[in-house]
Amino acid sequence: MKKTARAPANIAFVKYWGKSNESLRLPLNSSISMNLSGAYTTTTVEFSSRYSSDNVTLIGEELAESEKQRVVRHIDVIRRKAGIRTPARVMSRNNFPKGTGAAASASGFAALTVAAAVASGLTLTEKELTILARIGSGSACRSVPDGFVLWQAGNTSEDSYAYSLYPESYWDLRDVLVIVERRKKEISSTAGMSNVRSSPFFQSRIDGIAHKIESLKKALEKRDFPTFGSIIEEDCLNMHAVMMTQSPPIFYWSGATLDIVHAVHAWRGEGLPVSFTIDAGPNVHLICEGRNQEEVVRRATLVDGVKDIIVNKPSVGVRIMKEHLF
Ligand code: PMV
Repeated sequence: MKKTARAPANIAFVKYWGKSNESLRLPLNSSISMNLSGAYTTTTVEFSSRYSSDNVTLIGEELAESEKQRVVRHIDVIRRKAGIRTPARVMSRNNFPKGTGAAASASGFAALTVAAAVASGLTLTEKELTILARIGSGSACRSVPDGFVLWQAGNTSEDSYAYSLYPESYWDLRDVLVIVERRKKEISSTAGMSNVRSSPFFQSRIDGIAHKIESLKKALEKRDFPTFGSIIEEDCLNMHAVMMTQSPPIFYWSGATLDIVHAVHAWRGEGLPVSFTIDAGPNVHLICEGRNQEEVVRRATLVDGVKDIIVNKPSVGVRIMKEHLF
């Protein structure tokens, strides 16, 4: 009853910010993302009566007690589904540098869900695995299927699931992740989005999402980068406008974040096709096509305050691995 899974982080192009059901993590809107080749979590789960209690560790990093409890609660959901009560040992490793905010909860809960589900003896479809991963951490459901992924908001747990729109080989996009801050974010996405309704702009963002999802799907279908780029920037800015106008307001950006936003607008003016998107943190994802990666990296390196750059290609989703961490 020991299994290991590896899952990528993902970057959302149309983002999710706000839930209609907190405990089931049902989102208020559908979202579209791409899995990232350069940021993944590997997790081994073993259920064994040799253990007297659950044990959760993350190699090279200290986990807070509350983070361990969240993992154990998710293991409990899986144990109940599998009809077992056996204690579990869970060990994880992230391949990306500490505190880069590279969506560790998405890759972490996707790898945990699949390793634990298979180790517990459950045989689930990909759709069922995305539903289970979503209960652990919303965006984790998008790290299960391959490549470019749509998470359909749904109205119930059964119809809020993720599926692949296109495999990773479909479009040679790059996510040049520009690290301007290594500090852990002060307000988690779970805490931050629980206040989403206090923003006067919340409803108008939600009202525009269905149209954005359709337009983004069309831009993906045509591999139309200019349209694609303008939609992802628009949704990123809409989401951050909501965050900044919630009560209390959340400012995830730092000065360097805004410097990069200005630089991207200037670079585009000079003819370089690149767009940005930003999650719940200060680091900036520069999205471009493969042929422009070198120039985007070269220019990003020159911006003041840039601490590191991680280049990602589109990636497969979760995979079961032969080698275990213990
Ligand atoms: O599912 P969470 O709690 O990791 O929230 C993700 C929220 C954003 O990264 C800001 C947006 C998104 O859709 O990934």
